[in-house]
Amino acid sequence: MAPGITFHDHKPAGLSLRRAVIDGLSAEPKAIPPKFFYDQRGSALFSTLCQQPEYYPPEIEQKMLSELSGEIARLAGGGRMVFEPGAGALTKIRLLLEPLQPAAYVPMDISGEYLRTAASDLARAFPWLPVHATCVDFTHSLPIPDPAPAGPRLAFFPGSSIGNFDPQAAVGFLQLVARQLGPKGLLLIGVDTKKDPRVLHAAYNDRAGITAAFNLNLLRRMRDELGLECDPDQFEHRAFYNPGPGRIEMHLVSRRSQTLRMNGYRFEFSEGESVHTENSYKYTPQEFISLAADAGLELQEYWLGEGSLFALYLLRNG
Ligand code: AVI
Repeated sequence: MAPGITFHDHKPAGLSLRRAVIDGLSAEPKAIPPKFFYDQRGSALFSTLCQQPEYYPPEIEQKMLSELSGEIARLAGGGRMVFEPGAGALTKIRLLLEPLQPAAYVPMDISGEYLRTAASDLARAFPWLPVHATCVDFTHSLPIPDPAPAGPRLAFFPGSSIGNFDPQAAVGFLQLVARQLGPKGLLLIGVDTKKDPRVLHAAYNDRAGITAAFNLNLLRRMRDELGLECDPDQFEHRAFYNPGPGRIEMHLVSRRSQTLRMNGYRFEFSEGESVHTENSYKYTPQEFISLAADAGLELQEYWLGEGSLFALYLLRNG
């Protein structure tokens, strides 16, 4: 392991894909939470997905972070303890580290091995930075490990991951973040905006089929880890914008009527029936500022990227 890094495992033993599958495939309509996308292969596919030309958020957000890093650092001040729920490949934080000069960095992710590798690479690239990598299901808790220093905090939550929560759950999650921020703590958050549905449709149906592979990987996981008897080729990826709730929906659609078996359980599918695997809510600035206010987070500043395709918000805990 690289110097300056500690690793903390808070993954609950019962983080159960099995439970989610039994409950989710017995429900009406069928659904599995999107956090189960991220095994080792799913995290790698997500990283490839982020490089697809149609999936605009990463490129626009990274450009915004590079251009705004000085201004963000001026507003936030140096020496904060930075934590990042769902940190993934740890790409975006690199753009902020030199200007922000954090006292320590706590990346949190559910995919333990992936996090270990990404955090070790980061610690090697920034040898002055204490890194305390924490494997955790951040949708439930945000444990700050003991070696992290006291002092002002900043949470970094890029990539519009907030969009994967339903709005009510998003307020609950932001309240959880606010509790960990403490008084005057800051949250820097990237949020996808509402826009022409054709742009959204293309972003979640890339030509290279990486989003489809990412979605279908969930079935491979259930087959390989749980012994679910299923052929992923008998399902297809579907993603569309649902304008009422203002969200992209992703589904795995059964190509035919079939029964999937898993140690004594039977899950019946009719032709065209789907498993709902993800929502990705899009917000206008007014909508998001009001949602954050419901969680007690006050707007300090916000910025819109190219063509208003993406937004960054700096919020202060009241
Ligand atoms: C992680 N999350 C913000 C992505 C999104 O856009 O909702 C996940 C994703 N699903 C398909 N493409 C990307």
